[in-house]
Amino acid sequence: MGRFAGAKGLVLGVANDHSIAWAIAKEILADGGRIGFSHLPDRPDDERQRNRRRVAQLTDGEAGAAFLVPMDVSSDDQIAAVIDRARQEFGTIDFLVHSIAYAPMEDLKGPTTDCSREGFRIAMETSAYSLLAVARLARPILAPDASILTLTYFGGEKVVPGYNIMGVCKATLDACVKYMAFDLGPAGVRVNAISAGPLRTLAGRGAGVEEMLGLYEHMSPMGRNITHEEVGKAGAWLLSKDSLGITGEILHVDAGYNIMGSPGRLLNLVRKPGE
Ligand SMILES: NC(=O)c1ccc[n+]([C@@H]2O[C@H](COP(=O)([O-])OP(=O)(O)OC[C@H]3O[C@@H](n4cnc5c(N)ncnc54)[C@H](O)[C@@H]3O)[C@@H](O)[C@H]2O)c1
Repeated sequence: MGRFAGAKGLVLGVANDHSIAWAIAKEILADGGRIGFSHLPDRPDDERQRNRRRVAQLTDGEAGAAFLVPMDVSSDDQIAAVIDRARQEFGTIDFLVHSIAYAPMEDLKGPTTDCSREGFRIAMETSAYSLLAVARLARPILAPDASILTLTYFGGEKVVPGYNIMGVCKATLDACVKYMAFDLGPAGVRVNAISAGPLRTLAGRGAGVEEMLGLYEHMSPMGRNITHEEVGKAGAWLLSKDSLGITGEILHVDAGYNIMGSPGRLLNLVRKPGE
């Protein structure tokens, strides 16, 4: 019997086969869970329905993939529609994955101080507030012992040049995880985050992942980058009954990078012979 046999839930934030949300979903499906997925709505003039098609290519044919519906987290109505569908299909849900972030490129690329008012609002609403909105609307269907998981990054704890306004969003998201863990704790509902090291994904490309991959390879204690599978397995564990008792936690899946207080072995690359 798989670890997720009889468990059902929502995975929000799959864009394609590189998405972290898909890495987590694969582990759950392999362990017998059932999942309702969302995709970013397609523009009405996109006859090819590209967003839907990319996700459907993954979920179609997966025995545990129960449904796939459009959802933009800036709309409470669209979130409510996803929750309603989950209620119809599942009754209650045991896990909820929030793997969503966005900032307008012109605000993300510039100095944080130059972020526009509108860019700040959009980035915060999509990348941090959406966790509160989804959890609030899902609350009536959360089973006792349900587990909520979001994805964060170290750039919310320390300054990571290039991560800019998204770092401010992740700091907020991390605080949301802790306050939500307090709010929902009495109901037995857990809220945790994985702070993932850099991975090549759509969102990762926008946030400067290429440069970070080189840095992690030389600076992390393990001397390498992480894999999608490692985040997938850690995510599934936090969503499973194997991690009961853990809430409000920011679990770093980053080959240890976050513990470093100096560039470590990276210095070997810049030291001159004889130094
Ligand atoms: N890739 C990395 O290196 C990395 C590292 C740490 C944390 N993360 C975080 O992981 C999460 C998932 O990102 P990913 O790297 O898998 O990239 P991704 O591009 O595959 O996933 C981001 C998802 O956010 C969704 N999204 C954006 N705006 C939305 C909106 N308004 N409504 C609904 N959905 C919306 C996209 O459709 C996409 O599915 C993000 O929170 C990201 O910040 C990524």
